[in-house]
Amino acid sequence: MIIVLDFGGQYNQLIARRIRDLGVYSELMPFNTPVEKIKELNPKGIVFSGGPASVYLENSPVVDTAIYDLGLPIMGICYGMQLMSHQLEGKVQRAGKREYGKADVVFQPDSALVKGLESNQTVWMSHSDLVVETPTGFRVDASTEHAPIAAMSHPEKNFYAVQFHPEVRHSVYGNEMIRNFLYEVCQCEGNWSMETFVEDKIREIRDTVGDRKVLCALSGGVDSSVVAALIHRAIGDQLTCMFIDHNLLRKGEAEGVMETFTGKFDMNVIKIDARERFMSKLAGVSDPEQKRKIIGNEFIYCFDEESAKLGEFDFLAQGTLYTDIVESGTATAETIKSHHNVGGLPEDMKFQLIEPLNALFKDEVRKVGEELGLPREIVWRQPFPGPGLAIRVLGEVTEDKLVIVRESDAILREEIAKAGLDNEIWQYFTALPDMKSVGVMGDSRTYSYTVGIRAVTSIDGMTADWARIPWDILEKISVRIVNEVENVNRIVYDVTSKPPATIEWE
Ligand code: XMP
Repeated sequence: MIIVLDFGGQYNQLIARRIRDLGVYSELMPFNTPVEKIKELNPKGIVFSGGPASVYLENSPVVDTAIYDLGLPIMGICYGMQLMSHQLEGKVQRAGKREYGKADVVFQPDSALVKGLESNQTVWMSHSDLVVETPTGFRVDASTEHAPIAAMSHPEKNFYAVQFHPEVRHSVYGNEMIRNFLYEVCQCEGNWSMETFVEDKIREIRDTVGDRKVLCALSGGVDSSVVAALIHRAIGDQLTCMFIDHNLLRKGEAEGVMETFTGKFDMNVIKIDARERFMSKLAGVSDPEQKRKIIGNEFIYCFDEESAKLGEFDFLAQGTLYTDIVESGTATAETIKSHHNVGGLPEDMKFQLIEPLNALFKDEVRKVGEELGLPREIVWRQPFPGPGLAIRVLGEVTEDKLVIVRESDAILREEIAKAGLDNEIWQYFTALPDMKSVGVMGDSRTYSYTVGIRAVTSIDGMTADWARIPWDILEKISVRIVNEVENVNRIVYDVTSKPPATIEWE
């Protein structure tokens, strides 16, 4: 395992991801993870990520310097390099010129990071500070025009540091440099794969749970389905799944979920009709964060109450992903939205949580699903947010508005599938802005709702681009929605990427 310590840089999640793709298990952890905990995890190496801070300012994130005495290889990236230099008594300064974008770097050919690679490379730089003097015992491994010390190392101690970002694709041989760190420096074995992930998690779940009982919040989405299947594989009937119909699901979804899991998978699934309960809690609430928190809380309270009727459960399993954690705010990342399975958790919860997917990205979760033999329709089901249609009805959630979103969404899904675009578009849905406009139908004036169509391409949901749906298909969808869904007289198509927008509208 390789531990990536997170100093808040925007590419940090990619570092752990690249390492896993290279066959070595890796997790991102807060920069202030205690050295004792790191030791316990027994990693083969540590990476210090990039970050927005300056090492010479007060309150900048630092690591316990005992980390340098663990005898483990360390690779510092950008801020990570500056931190290593600063803590080991080199010198870091504000750069004369902020360097951002592609840069040509020249490596010393004998640097371990470029073993088997050209010495001249194109890399991606993004920094305002620079190492101007290496710590004692370090050598300069590479330079660029503006950064005389663009990489440095202490080969005896296995400390390596680069000013650029090898994890970003614009660094042409960045992946190979990470590979060299893993295999040449850390001597990793490279035997990590989704298969071993599944085996490890099954063992871990059995160890944690013993003969106790687990309740799983099954929503029918990819994440909770994969969690349920994984835990079912580990502990069989000690798992009970509870499917809560909160009235915020897509058309036909509740029926579909029950059919799949009780039928094909023969799991213990209990369906709770909580439609009234959620709607009454949401009445009069229009703030998106408040809606998310209410739904998150209500979910847990509902589980709590309903599970009490079923006897004792010790654990609650959730399909929390890495992206949910990052976007809900980590020690260093800012809160963008509180994802309902993280930020919405009430403090007085009495379950212990099991979140076996919380280090993974969505596309990795799909691979786990395939590994577990889940059917294609589930594994490739488009992501659906925990708070469901409540965050697609902007403003107050009412029954009438839910009907509009549900019906228009069903038409959109049908037409996208008919056009054979469902594999290309990562996520597509309709949203209902809290707004009416004037139209004309027949000979009469109408004053009705506008439906927004959102369709995006993405790999992991962290960034996204709007999908280029052909005009004639958009037209078909628009005509059908206006004709078939009552109270709608206008359709708009969302042409913003993420960032600056997010995928969902709330
Ligand atoms: P945003 O809107 O943040 O969405 O760009 C990124 C991805 O996450 C999904 N999403 C959620 N998933 N709980 C979830 O499980 C949530 O609260 C939540 N909010 C957004 C969204 O559908 C997209 O795929």
